[in-house]
Amino acid sequence: MAATQMEQLVSLCKRRGFIFQNSDIYGGLQGVYDYGPLGVELKNNIKAAWWRAMVYERDDVEGLDAAILTNRKVLHYSGHEDTFSDPMVDCRKCKGRFRADQINGVCPNCGSTDLTEPRPFNLMFKTTVGPVVDEDNIAYLRPETAQAIFTQFKNVVDSTSRKLPFGIAQIGKSFRNEITPKNFIFRVREFEQAELEFFVKPGEDEKWHEYWKQARIDWWVAQGLPRDRFRVYDQKPDELAHYAKACSDIEYAFPHGVEELEGIANRRDYDLGNHTKSQEEFNLEAHCHKNPDSTAKLCVRDEENNKWIVPFVIEPSMGIDRAVLAILTEAYNEEDLGGGNSRIVLKLKKHLAPIKIAIVPLKKNSPEIMAKCHELKQSLMKLGIGRVALENTGNIGKAYRRHDEVGTPLCLTVDFETLEQQPETVTLRDRDTMEQIRIATAELPAYLREYFA
Ligand code: GLY
Repeated sequence: MAATQMEQLVSLCKRRGFIFQNSDIYGGLQGVYDYGPLGVELKNNIKAAWWRAMVYERDDVEGLDAAILTNRKVLHYSGHEDTFSDPMVDCRKCKGRFRADQINGVCPNCGSTDLTEPRPFNLMFKTTVGPVVDEDNIAYLRPETAQAIFTQFKNVVDSTSRKLPFGIAQIGKSFRNEITPKNFIFRVREFEQAELEFFVKPGEDEKWHEYWKQARIDWWVAQGLPRDRFRVYDQKPDELAHYAKACSDIEYAFPHGVEELEGIANRRDYDLGNHTKSQEEFNLEAHCHKNPDSTAKLCVRDEENNKWIVPFVIEPSMGIDRAVLAILTEAYNEEDLGGGNSRIVLKLKKHLAPIKIAIVPLKKNSPEIMAKCHELKQSLMKLGIGRVALENTGNIGKAYRRHDEVGTPLCLTVDFETLEQQPETVTLRDRDTMEQIRIATAELPAYLREYFA
């Protein structure tokens, strides 16, 4: 049974060090969160699983890690300066500000109907670069990682000689000044994205859109989300972002409701078309704005008919914070152990677990046992299976409960038998079944390599 209340996750995340409110000691900063000791491990493991599937296991994708600060012109020609906004209304009575599409003409704060006409509110964070604060020095914190993939398109193609179809993948922070950040880490102002821009021949876009829908669903299943917990929603024309011809949302049953986990958009030639110079030389499908500033043609040679073309783009775009939330929701279990006992256990897939093995000393005041624990930690770390942690609470029952709650697949216990008998053995306790086996330490490397393969 997955988590049904957001409070279950908020409480676990704070108690066990996954996620904290940013600037907590000063009352927080709304819509901004920090990842704690275990949160950073979980997030890194999710990112590694995405990168592995999207870059390493494929032969048609390259990676990129671009800057967050973005030249204003990029977000001007991308359309974000003009259109990346929510219509807002102000309540003349209580001075509250709300998204027009969420309030039905009545102020949710004071009930007044004396509201202003909707006005666009741009979601991008503005800053200035250099010592002079003026209009000429404005830059933005990127609202999506995608734009740098488009503006670096030519450099990537020139340096890798890629032919269509191929993709460029990127993971990184993005920023949106959301009017109403809410639902824990679901809607936040600083967030992380994992985006692939997959460039295809015009006319092959719909086929690739279908392909990526299926590929991404398969990836989510491999991260532990059962198929019956999400659905695909095809956006209606009036719901599409300004750049999109079509967009399919993979939606998941979060504790607060069924909402978007990942969007798979067909951006056709909108972005490369807007950023390219010499637009008139290409038969662009999207309506693009004249661009006298660009210094590069963002096109590739179509070998079949020997023409230069601007590729279409299919974009699977996932929010890492939403991935963390969905994966935690799904893994969360409260189990009745009978006899009035219960436990919380995070049934994370092994490759996502923040700690892979906890080494637990039966007695922490036994120098011999502690020395053996240190020795085992050093040798198991070298297996490259991820984080091996030395548990030092001195209470074996508490150690097991703690590691159940944070999703550690295995607890390895060193006891007096370990020290006294030959061959040397330890116990391994499985998180999900709670069963224990005794295993010779000489056999551990082979056993663990297989277990975490
Ligand atoms: N690149 C798509 C998005 O940020 O929503």
